[in-house]
Amino acid sequence: MSNHRSSRRDFLAGSAAVLAASGLADPRPATAVEAGPLRIAPDAPVRLGLIGVGGRGNELLRCAYTVKARFTVKAIADPNEANIGKTLEHIGKHGDDKPEVYRGEEDYRKLLAREDIDAVIIAVPPDLHARIYLDAFAAGKHMYAEKPMCVSVAEVNALVEAQTRRPDVLCQIGFQRRSSNFYREAIARLREGMCGEIFECLGAWRLSGGPLGLPDSGTQIWFGRAERSGDWMIEQACHTWDVMCWAAGDMPVAAYGRGRRGLFRHIDPQRDVTDFYLAQLEFPNGMLADFEHNWMCPQFDDEKREFTGIFERFTGPKGGIALGEWPRQARFFPRSGKDKCVDFGDLSKNTTEESVETFFRCLRSGEKPPSGVENGRLATLTGLLVRKAVYEGRRVEMKEILTA
Ligand SMILES: NC(=O)c1ccc[n+]([C@@H]2O[C@H](COP(=O)([O-])OP(=O)(O)OC[C@H]3O[C@@H](n4cnc5c(N)ncnc54)[C@H](O)[C@@H]3O)[C@@H](O)[C@H]2O)c1
Repeated sequence: MSNHRSSRRDFLAGSAAVLAASGLADPRPATAVEAGPLRIAPDAPVRLGLIGVGGRGNELLRCAYTVKARFTVKAIADPNEANIGKTLEHIGKHGDDKPEVYRGEEDYRKLLAREDIDAVIIAVPPDLHARIYLDAFAAGKHMYAEKPMCVSVAEVNALVEAQTRRPDVLCQIGFQRRSSNFYREAIARLREGMCGEIFECLGAWRLSGGPLGLPDSGTQIWFGRAERSGDWMIEQACHTWDVMCWAAGDMPVAAYGRGRRGLFRHIDPQRDVTDFYLAQLEFPNGMLADFEHNWMCPQFDDEKREFTGIFERFTGPKGGIALGEWPRQARFFPRSGKDKCVDFGDLSKNTTEESVETFFRCLRSGEKPPSGVENGRLATLTGLLVRKAVYEGRRVEMKEILTA
């Protein structure tokens, strides 16, 4: 007898009902099974399904092996043969059994309907997130669900509703900074008032490589198509919005922005993402944030990174906290030179490994994951706000986003 499973309720409504209630079109036949979530015994391996096994899906799998999460991959779903091959090789190298493979666009639903799967790791392009996450909720599968949580207000509302209806389903949204020891410590100190009342944040994604999503990038071409990715304000800057909202305790009330598309049109005429933009965000606590997203930064070599970096720097009257995943930083700088800088946490830890480790810990302990639908909502809404501000080149208020 399996020591995983408690009971399974019959199919009630499936995610189609949630989609319909939120006004989202759902063209699919209703075949998903709404079931009770699987309980995982502390000593049992987690029986995993992988939905989307491209770059990120394989990185999350690598992390699961590295942190020695006890698991077995029962099935994978992905229509891309090359990515399936790499994943089977990856699993085979670890001496694990070959999982069942589902290759159709809609076959992830067959994976979700399996009774021998406790949890899924979902890493597909952003335009597919909401529907697959809703199906996972309906099937009662715990999930590590990559960011951005989704790409529209209707999807945000549907996912909030799904999590409210199914509090027993663990949904960790893939904002790895929320599980990072140094981010957690720094933000805790910031919120305790180490810098005084924060009035400024300076954030950036300044990049020189790529850009991601050029036509020769295989499945990853979606990065260069706004309709699929939601554009950089949703797909990538969502990490920064998540940190800003975490620090400020809420999402911004307004934003202004300007930007430029077409920086890489000479390579890809169809590319329509905004590879450069600047935005200013106003938070309810008075914090003003300045943000730059730029895929065309110069970079001489790995040492001379004058222009590049991914960071968030907060300033208050008593000092500032500089945080960043690249280059790594988590340091308090006092305003007075007489005082010492303070470093936070262990910067050598890989934040994605910490995040995956957290997921498996929460699965077994029943703890609430540090990143879920609540903060996923704030980050997506902030992305939608900034995107509208940049597209329209004006100051946009959050109420316009919420009432659209
Ligand atoms: N947290 C992070 O730092 C981070 C980093 C990179 C990517 N991501 C996110 O991970 C997700 C995937 O990004 P990626 O870089 O792996 O892209 P990718 O293109 O490399 O992989 C996506 C995979 O999804 C598959 N797919 C497409 N439709 C599918 C379907 N209907 N069913 C099952 N699989 C399907 C594709 O075939 C592909 O193998 C995106 O949401 C991205 O934003 C997060």
